[in-house]
This record gives sequence, C-alpha cells and structure tokens, in this order.
Amino acid sequence: MPIKIFRAGMVFGLYLIMTSSAAYAADAQILYTQSLAATCANCHGTQGKSIKDPSIPGLAGRPSAYIIEQMQAFKTGTREATIMHQIAKGYTNEQIKQMADYFASQKP
Ligand code: HEC
Repeated sequence: MPIKIFRAGMVFGLYLIMTSSAAYAADAQILYTQSLAATCANCHGTQGKSIKDPSIPGLAGRPSAYIIEQMQAFKTGTREATIMHQIAKGYTNEQIKQMADYFASQKP
C-alpha cells in the first residue's frame, strides 16, 4: 500500500515537472516575441499602437498576412521604402511571422 501511494506521488511529481517546464517554454517564447516586436516600437508605437505621425502606420490589429506580405516586399525591394527595406532584411521569415501574429492580436 505505501509503495502504491509513493508511486502515485512520483507520477504526480513528474507530471508537475513536465507541465511547469512546458509553461516555462511558452513564457520564454512569448517574451522572445515581445522583445522582437519591441524593436518596432520606436516608430510604430508601443505594441504597434501608432503614434500620431501619418507617415508611420500603426501595426496593431492589422492582419498577420498583410504584415508578412509587406515585410517580404520590403525585404525583396518590390515595395519602396525610406527605412523599412533596411529593417526588414534583419529578420528571418520565422521572426516576421511571430511579430505579424503578435501585432495582429493587439487592439489598435
Ligand atoms: C526607424 C523607424 C521604424 C522602425 C524601427 C520600424 N519601422 Fe516599419 N515603417 C516605418 C516607416 C517610415 C514605414 C513606411 C514605409 C517606409 O518609408 O519605410 C513603415 C512601414 C511598415 C509596414 C507597412 C505598413 C503598411 O501600412 O503598409 C510594416 C508592415 C512595418 N513597417 C513593419 C515593421 C516591423 C515589423 C518593425 C520591427 C521589426 C518595424 N516596422 C520597424 C518605420 C519604422
């Protein structure tokens, strides 16, 4: 009997360790995405909420697919830009996708 309880405790302990490390990994991923998106805040506003400058569009609430498309266009030079063609080149497609999903999920 005591062995059974011990074993149940071990299984539960393992379960706790596994779920908390999964939660930790998810938190780390969120922090990473937020830190990527923060590099855009100087010009596009905190969390992509635009500052009052019509030459720099806000990103919050824009469709993810639109942001990705524009970033690719800046990267490849099919969309002319004053600054974004340089910035877009610094990010991988995976990072662009993460930032686009992040901005799309923010309220404008
Ligand atoms: C130094 C200022 C600056 C920074 C930093 C910056 N942007 Fe921009 N962004 C602009 C400007 C200015 C434009 C208008 C296009 C141009 O002239 O480059 C723009 C346009 C865009 C557009 C097109 C929006 C539309 O309405 O079509 C997207 C998407 C975008 N930026 C994404 C980003 C992302 C993602 C980051 C962070 C990795 C970022 N920008 C960082 C200045 C900036």
